[in-house]
Amino acid sequence: MRQLWVILLLMVVCSQGEKKDDPRFMFRCFLFPGKLKQVDAWQGKVYGIDLDNLPNRLVGKCWSPLDGQMKHITVGPAGVWATDLKNNIYNLEEDNWVQIPGTLQQVDAGGTGFLTGVKSCHRAFCADISVSSKQNLGWTLIPGKLQYYSCGPQTCWGVGEAGEVYVQTGVHAGDCAGKFGMVETKVPMAKVEVGSNGAVFALSSSGVPYQRVGISEERPLGTGWVRLHGLEAIRSLSYDRYILWLVNYTGQIRRCIKVIRK
Ligand SMILES: *[C@@H]1O[C@H](CO)[C@@H](O)[C@H](O)[C@H]1NC(C)=O
Repeated sequence: MRQLWVILLLMVVCSQGEKKDDPRFMFRCFLFPGKLKQVDAWQGKVYGIDLDNLPNRLVGKCWSPLDGQMKHITVGPAGVWATDLKNNIYNLEEDNWVQIPGTLQQVDAGGTGFLTGVKSCHRAFCADISVSSKQNLGWTLIPGKLQYYSCGPQTCWGVGEAGEVYVQTGVHAGDCAGKFGMVETKVPMAKVEVGSNGAVFALSSSGVPYQRVGISEERPLGTGWVRLHGLEAIRSLSYDRYILWLVNYTGQIRRCIKVIRK
């Protein structure tokens, strides 16, 4: 009898929780030293752009500035890439920025064997990468008018002109564009970021962070958005290995650890 009560109680907690939150997990956040405008993490490597537009790399607990003045930085299987204030594209090779022909406003290195980015007029592109092709990337246009585009191991997620959310599934080197899809969103999104394990997080146009839940092999688009509560407006986020990095509008950094809810 007592066991039955426990089971019933657990079911209530789970079904209530499911509507607004993933009942099993939560993020515990701690302020982190430094100030940034943008952050990106992949497999324990963390890069960011500080308030003076200097690209930085996290070494231990300290930010270590790199050369140049950049607008957006990304780290992933494709290496470390950045775009500067004039939208020039750079790849970090042995701590030196090497300029790559072309322009991008935002770049993402989260894809395996390819690079993606957004150019002017809301056009997103992807390009396969090999050592020989870096100076001569062949760009493929992604469908939809996208203002932000981010990739993980098998999917790329994009945000359209009006905050709608697009997904390209089955992406890989050789077919970096993949197959077109869309997911519903009640609030317009500004950014969607895919983590190194394929987890998906979004920021609404007013800076509210969301996680896409229900993502699996069978359902790569997931089943819904869950709002992350208790946070002020967030400007930039990145998820990697159970750590969610958040940057708010004054540049304050939070390092949030995914923990099992007690
Ligand atoms: C950013 O976070 C810091 C530390 O919690 C806080 O003092 C500041 O008001 C926040 N800024 C904004 C714009 O929310």
